[in-house]
Amino acid sequence: MITLEVNGRTHSVDADPATPLLYVLRGELALNGAKFGCGLGQCGACTVMVDGSAVLSCLLPLSAVQQRSVKTVEGLGSAQEPGLLQRAFIDEQAAQCGYCIAGMIMRAQALLERNPAPTDAEIRRAMATNLCRCGTHMRILRAVRRAADAMRAAGPARSVTP
Ligand code: FES
Ligand code: FES
Repeated sequence: MITLEVNGRTHSVDADPATPLLYVLRGELALNGAKFGCGLGQCGACTVMVDGSAVLSCLLPLSAVQQRSVKTVEGLGSAQEPGLLQRAFIDEQAAQCGYCIAGMIMRAQALLERNPAPTDAEIRRAMATNLCRCGTHMRILRAVRRAADAMRAAGPARSVTP
């Protein structure tokens, strides 16, 4: 059994320690936001946060997150009550097919938690790891900018959870 915390809840998972975190999130915990894109660390569709940093969950073995804090896009809000970052992506209509979006949001969340007022260059640099096959990058960048403004206006308590 491996114990991990996901979105504030503790889970004990009976799986091979080498299993990629992405498979556990989707297959065992029914958290389907993070997507399998390449499985090779090249696209960012599987991005989640571990202890505040963006990680590629297709590459991270379950054993590496034992007793650590994992956050997925489901932890930022819901369809009924989207968090500020999710709301910004909706307002900017940043999703086309949507496949990359959960990973984009989690990479942006990690950026904004460590740098609440990023420059455009810093946003571009932080988001460069994540690819969007639909080419909505400009809308995604606008959404991150919009979210940064909204989070600063809302104060620190609203910046992490809805
Ligand atoms: S699925 Fe993990 S980087 Fe592509
Ligand atoms: S919206 Fe389709 S891959 Fe990004």
